[in-house]
Amino acid sequence: AAPQRAEWTGQIGFIISAIGSAVGLGNIWRFPGVAYENGGGAFLIPYIVALLTAGIPILFLDYAIGHRFRGSAPLALRRVAGRLGESLGWFQVMICVFIAIYYTAVLAWAGSYFVFSFDLRWGDDAGGFFQGEFLRVPDDGTLFSMDFVPGVLIALVLMWVVTIVLLGQGVVKGVQRANMIAMPLLVIGFVVLVVRALFLPGAADGLNALFTPDFAALADPGVWVAAYSQIFFSLSVAFGIMMTYASYRKRRSNMTTPGLVVAFANSSFEILAGIGVFATLGFFAHQQGVGIADLEGLTGVGLAFVTFPAIVAEMPGGPFFGMLFFGSLTLAALTSLISILEVVFAGIIDKFGMSRKGAAYGIGGALAVVSILLFGTTTGLIALDTIDKWANEIGIVGSAVVMTVTVLWIRRAGRELSGHLSALSTFKVGRTWLLLVSVLGPIVLGYMLIVTIIDLIQNPYSGYSPGYLLVVGWGSVFAMIAGSAVLTLLPWKRDPSNFVPWPV
Ligand code: PHE
Ligand code: NA
Repeated sequence: AAPQRAEWTGQIGFIISAIGSAVGLGNIWRFPGVAYENGGGAFLIPYIVALLTAGIPILFLDYAIGHRFRGSAPLALRRVAGRLGESLGWFQVMICVFIAIYYTAVLAWAGSYFVFSFDLRWGDDAGGFFQGEFLRVPDDGTLFSMDFVPGVLIALVLMWVVTIVLLGQGVVKGVQRANMIAMPLLVIGFVVLVVRALFLPGAADGLNALFTPDFAALADPGVWVAAYSQIFFSLSVAFGIMMTYASYRKRRSNMTTPGLVVAFANSSFEILAGIGVFATLGFFAHQQGVGIADLEGLTGVGLAFVTFPAIVAEMPGGPFFGMLFFGSLTLAALTSLISILEVVFAGIIDKFGMSRKGAAYGIGGALAVVSILLFGTTTGLIALDTIDKWANEIGIVGSAVVMTVTVLWIRRAGRELSGHLSALSTFKVGRTWLLLVSVLGPIVLGYMLIVTIIDLIQNPYSGYSPGYLLVVGWGSVFAMIAGSAVLTLLPWKRDPSNFVPWPV
């Protein structure tokens, strides 16, 4: 008989862990800048539309598949849609493999900067410190090197060890416990940070810059694409995470209410981060005597590791603020990384019958080696940015399109899944949900995918050479597809179809 599948100890463990996955770098460093650049306050309209028409419906789809078919992405999707489904599941696992490799690097940087905050180690040239002293990015344009950077290397090894050991402890003692500790700390730390930021001189200007609506932006399709892509990445949907976490829920579970809680918590954290980040940027602009529009580095790596350190250096009580910011970033990234790796390990455990410790130490160790070779050296920064772009905008969006088409059009599992979602839930889903996931979803996402592909082909990303982008960007996606094909062809330890879906 198949071993008993691990279960969260209760609904709270699941909800907190799912929020832990959702709340990540996307909330803190992506949402505020994206909102600002895409219509400010007016961005909330496409954002909410995207949340209601695609984010939550696809979140429910992930939940329904993972719970009803009780498996990691490859197993659950195999049970829904045969080999085609399984290969999609492995593609989602491969996306997580790539993301894990660079996400850990950011986690390591955040952890290092938490320590650097004590004495504001970056001094008064935060940008120079980050690229020069800290990462030692070669200034001659070298793309690959094997020169290790000791400081980064140590932090990276440490983060891998922590994550692997946690995941080796299993779903309850590892994943759930880590989230139950980290998430309250994150919320408290971040709320303190936001409150502090609101009292900085210039904070109000920052908030005005973020929230003043530019309604003309709504006529730009690019703004809508930005909203859908923010929601997707932010909710961690369509790449196996929510499916895997849902597979650990007890048999008789309310499916939809926790989904609404997770989505609401994630969006609230995004708005909160927008307030905190822009209040802080308002202070910076005020210090420099410039407008917010003149500032650079408002998202991503630049915001977190260049702009914020520069601001912290000018602030009374800077070390405390820096610790709050980088501490929050570390916890947010750690709880997301746990979910990413859980997708990978769960897939391997389900298919090959490997033990949890075997998967965590063996597969996790192998990923750690790759991550350390790529990001413990002087070349980490460039590859990170490129892989991130392709994994998110091609990988995840592509996976969502294929998933909705395979499950709802080819396999026609829509009614079965909507019945499953509603059986024990207080919030019932019906025809509206089905229309959203099966018709609107694939159209909007397919459109986004095509627009992105054309744009990436026509305009070399960030001005990198086409050869480099072919290898690192497109190459990553090809590697995901190839990896998924190989994994699908390998034999199952236990027959995946020997199974009865849960009648709830
Ligand atoms: N949802 C996370 C965020 O908003 C991002 C994430 C990416 C989570 C990859 C898990 C895996 O930052
Ligand atoms: Na998020």
